[in-house]
Parts: sequence; structure tokens; C-alpha cells
Amino acid sequence: MREHDPPDTGSRLIPPVDPHVVVLFGATGDLARRKLLPGLYHLARAGLLRDYRVLGADLGHLGAEEFQKVAGEAVVEFGRQVADDESLAEFLDHLEYASITDGPDALADRTRELGADLSGESGADCRVLHYLSVPPSAALDVVDLIARAGLVERSRIIMEKPFGTDLRSARHLNAALHATFDESQIFRIDHFLGKEAALNILAFRFANGLFEPIWNRQHIDHVQIDVPETLSIGQRASFYEATGAFRDMVVTHLFQVLAFMAMEPPTDFTPLSISEEKQKVFRSMQPIQPADVVRGQYHGYLDEPGVSPDSDTETFIALRCEIDNWRWAGVPFYLRTGKRMGEGSRIISIAFCEPPRSMFPAGSGVGAHGPDHLTFDLADASKLSLSFYGKRPGPGMRLDKQSLQFALHEHADVLEAYERLIHDAMCGDHTLFTTSDGIERLWEVSDPLIANPPPVRPYAPGSWGPNAVHQLIAPNAWRLPFERAWRED
Ligand code: BG6
Repeated sequence: MREHDPPDTGSRLIPPVDPHVVVLFGATGDLARRKLLPGLYHLARAGLLRDYRVLGADLGHLGAEEFQKVAGEAVVEFGRQVADDESLAEFLDHLEYASITDGPDALADRTRELGADLSGESGADCRVLHYLSVPPSAALDVVDLIARAGLVERSRIIMEKPFGTDLRSARHLNAALHATFDESQIFRIDHFLGKEAALNILAFRFANGLFEPIWNRQHIDHVQIDVPETLSIGQRASFYEATGAFRDMVVTHLFQVLAFMAMEPPTDFTPLSISEEKQKVFRSMQPIQPADVVRGQYHGYLDEPGVSPDSDTETFIALRCEIDNWRWAGVPFYLRTGKRMGEGSRIISIAFCEPPRSMFPAGSGVGAHGPDHLTFDLADASKLSLSFYGKRPGPGMRLDKQSLQFALHEHADVLEAYERLIHDAMCGDHTLFTTSDGIERLWEVSDPLIANPPPVRPYAPGSWGPNAVHQLIAPNAWRLPFERAWRED
């Protein structure tokens, strides 16, 4: 047994980043302003990005100064820490702009000029990271532009979700990407996997001996992955109308979290071992049957600007899926997410099997509050709770539901999900990114639902979805809204 951990040399656990030009396509769009520009600023300020330039690129015609102004406002408005003037000015100084309407040669020239500056600073060869923060329909045009600009060598590319809209389009997208980039250069981002709390599932499961022996069909009755949102679709009608809750959230985020929850222990913490185990989960997933799905649409969605008056797009989805392998056969996984729901939350809740019989008399309270649960709250300040029955203090033998709760407080070192994933991509680390096979398999299991979606049912804003959602999970019940709130400190 080891008494002390070896000293953290830093270099092994947090690898250094090569000098980089980040070409940010869609540089003034919603995601860039809300997450990517503030994220790059934070990485630079934390010392995780040293020799870098950011080349903002989109269809506009800004000058560098105008782009720096947009970026500065975005950092101030959306950054998760107060930006100090000095570090912000220094960051903005690293930002340049190119209009993609000027064509591939102009883009190539700008990128190479910036790269040459960096090679001068560090004496090392520079890499290029292309971040495609563009609508799915524009992605291949941008890939083509990068190829024509000759900016493929020593570069990597981050692709935003949704990656395709069904199996056919995902295969087409993968084939087109592979015509330009090698798989090792491609990073399909799913920001849920960059969340500290999602990574903590791996730590919890595989760094401890306590839970793994009961992490299976013998002891677990069912699992819920529940991500209700209070947000509406905001200004994103054109994206959302073509996407809907299933493609926006389930095929990407919820299935990925499910894989972390369900996979076998990987042989080591390397991209290959982790994606092999995730892929085995996806292969064992049973195709999603329309009868196991509830689709919903909030009242008022059809009046949102940009939404078609007879839209069939779902803003809510709940479904049941099964993983048909030795560990999970017969254990239902219930997934739910939607817009304009009663509360914003992200939980994974594991319901354990109840004891085979009870020695406690009727009326003692045993079983009255459902099974024992282990609940992960995937919020930024993540929480964990284990609930079980215990004796209520006092005379007689009355039982109450009790819980052990653990809360991880905001930590200065925490990287926001996009920050972590951009940094990983710059280091060439694929551990938290999805593979072409993985994504294609997920579209394959989604096929029966996409081919034959059940009709959307209306639900009231502020509710928990259409009523049919209770039949889907019966005789069990959704954990949310919680009967008892998390304990405050
Ligand atoms: C995005 C979806 O990928 O994830 C949004 O497109 C959703 O519709 C968002 O609101 C949720 O992410 P987070 O990190 O805020 O839980």
C-alpha cells in the first residue's frame, strides 16, 4: 500500500500545449460569445495557453479591433469570473479577424502570418486548431475551405454537435471529414463530458472498491438520467426547429453520460480504452422503440419567432432504453430532458433493489419512500447523495429515509466544460471526445424512433412534461421534482 501520492509534477497530469493558432469559425455567434471566447480568455489567464493567437473567422466583415470589442464584451458579459483589465487587454491583443468571404488564400495567409509570429516567439512549430462553431449545414463548406486553404497539416479540428441528423447523414459527414482529416485530427465535442461532475462518475466508480460490486442488475433496479431545463429555445429557433430535443440533447449528451454510468472498467485512463468501453455499451444498447418514447412540445412553442405554425419539433423527450449485456440486462434506463420545464437540473439517479422481504411490521415506514437511491447532481458545484432507511429516534421502531450527502464546492481550479475540452484537443487528447463509430452506432439505435416518431403531446410551461411521462416509468416514479430538497450547509 502506498502511503503518499507521488508529487504532481504537473507535466504528466496537465501536459503543456504547443504554440497554437486557434481559427474560430463562427467567431461572433452565440456559442462563441457565451462559451468559447470567455473560455479561451480563462485558459490564457490560468496559464494553460501561453503562445497562441485566435483568428476569428465568419461571414462578416469586421476589422481586428471590432472583433476584439465583441470578444471583450462577451468575456465581461458571459465570463464566469470577473475579468481584470490587464489580463483582458492582453488576451484581446492576441485576437485577429478574417472574413471567410475573402476566400481560402486570404485565410491561409492570415493563419500562416500568425503562426510565423508564434514560431518566432517559442522557436517551435506551431499547430492550428480549427473550431467549427457553425450550424451543422455549414460544417462541410468550412471543411472544404480549410482544405483549399491548405490548413490541414499539423492541424486539429473540433466539430460541434449534433454530428449529423441520422445514421445516413452521420456516415456521410464522417466520410467527407475523413477525406480531408485523419481520425486522429478530429475532435467531436460533447460538452457534457467535459463537466467536472461527469468525470467524477469515472472517479467515483473506478477509484473506489465500495460501489463497483453492486453496480449491476443484481442490485440496481433502474436508472434515471434527468436533465430538465427552464430555458426556452431563446433566439435559436432555426437551429432548434431542425434539431429538437432528441437530437439536441439525447443522442449527444444523455447517451454519453449513460455510457460513463454503464461501461465496464477500462484497462487504463487512455482515450482508446475509454472509447472501447463506451463503444461496447453503445453496441449493447437496444434500438429505441417509439412505444418507449414520449415526445412533448410546450404550450406557446408555435408562437416563438421563427417557429413554423404547424411544427412537429419536440421540445421535450422522455424514453426508456435497455443495455442488453451481462451487467445490465433487464435494468431500464429512463432518460428525460426538455425546455421550459419546472426546474433546471441535471441528475443521474440510481435506484437500488429493495430487500427481498421485510421483518419490520406494517406501518413501520419501511419502503414508504421508495428504494434506496444514489444520486449524482451534475451541476458545476456537483453533489452526491446516498439515501437509505434508518431508525427514527425515539420509542418503538419507526423507519425514515435518511441520506448521506456530499457537495463539491466551487473550486478556483475548475475548468468550465468547453475550456477543458479545448485544452484537451490542443494536447491531442481524445479521452472525452466521441468517435466516428460511437456516433454512428448511436444514430443506428435511434433509427426506429426517427423513422416513426410518436406524435408530440402538449405540456404546460413550468411543468414536468406531458402526463404520459408517468406511464412510461410506472410502477416507478421520477425522482424530480425531489420530495426533499438537498440539505444546505
Ligand atoms: C446544448 C444544447 O448542447 O446544451 C442546449 O444545444 C442546452 O439546448 C445545453 O441548453 C445545456 O448545457 P448546459 O451545460 O447548460 O447544461
